[in-house]
Amino acid sequence: MTSGPLVLGIETSCDETGVGIVSGDTLLADAVASSVAEHARFGGVVPEVASRAHLEAMVPTIDRACETAGVRLTDVDAIAVTAGPGLAGALLVGVAAAKALALGLDKPLYGVNHLAAHVAVDQLQHGPLPEPCLAMLVSGGHSSLLRVDDVTADIDPLGATIDDAAGEAFDKVARLLGLGFPGGPVIDATAASGSSIAIDFPRGLTSRRDLERHRFDFSFSGLKTAVARWVEARERAGEPVPVADVAASFQEAVVDVLVRKALDAATSAGIEEMVIGGGVAANSRLRALAAERAETVGVRVRVPRPGLCTDNGAMVAALGAEMVARGRTPSTLDLPADSSQPVTSVLV
Ligand code: KG4
Ligand code: ZN
Repeated sequence: MTSGPLVLGIETSCDETGVGIVSGDTLLADAVASSVAEHARFGGVVPEVASRAHLEAMVPTIDRACETAGVRLTDVDAIAVTAGPGLAGALLVGVAAAKALALGLDKPLYGVNHLAAHVAVDQLQHGPLPEPCLAMLVSGGHSSLLRVDDVTADIDPLGATIDDAAGEAFDKVARLLGLGFPGGPVIDATAASGSSIAIDFPRGLTSRRDLERHRFDFSFSGLKTAVARWVEARERAGEPVPVADVAASFQEAVVDVLVRKALDAATSAGIEEMVIGGGVAANSRLRALAAERAETVGVRVRVPRPGLCTDNGAMVAALGAEMVARGRTPSTLDLPADSSQPVTSVLV
């Protein structure tokens, strides 16, 4: 038996059309249609292609979610939607669909922040979110460390990438190794047969001087360049490129810095709970290293299963349900989509 508000969540900030249905913190359905295959030959997401795919997938994905959950749209208590950040055209499709549903069903609408939703999703798997917690969000579009005192209203950014996002680095390095797109899963798999200590790639923003200004920030573009130079040097010398070792050593450089900085942020703020989210949280080495190092400093780590880490509608529904449960005022129907919505703005 489930309890709590029945909320339908819509996510269209990038290339996944996600529709999730939750009852409180119980997941009932998580339907996702991805246009990732249509972007593969471009080596990255093409916004116009993503928007058109959302438009085509939206109604079938809503139908699929309702069918899986065994609910009718008229049963739903509220609609939640990602209002930003993300690709402008892609967001517009989801926001327009959510407005149409809210208007047609005469139900409250919650326009929520994508990053906060990546944090809130964890309670579908692990129960009520511990607050305060330190959230590390790592995906193709973002890499940030957040202090979360209230996932519906009070999120404080502590640090972020100053150039490429962590997932972007995985995608770019996979491309230069000829491994395809998206790069994260294939590097993760390739790295399994390589050595993480074969090549000593640089750890961005970890020198004493960098730490003074960028203690909780990340930089991955120097690492990407270092990998490219290393591979070029091997090719120039006519030597084979040990792809698995490059993948493993690159992955270790990313994950080492992510975990180091996240735990530094948590322990320096006296926070004992950490939540990791976003597509890169699916990375097997990140999950293992975070668990291992967190234990030594007394921090508990929660990482949702990979399907909940990548973009999906359930995360938006989870945050929407929390908005309802905590009595937040719904959005108005003139709600905008904001491609650069700051994480401090959790509900628009
Ligand atoms: O959260 P997400 O689905 O979409 C964005 O909001 O970006 O994240 C996608 C990103 C891609 O860059 C992809 O390469 C990366 O997450 N990713 C991974 C893994 N699975 C997905 N990165 C590292 N290891 C993985 N296993
Ligand atoms: Zn995301």
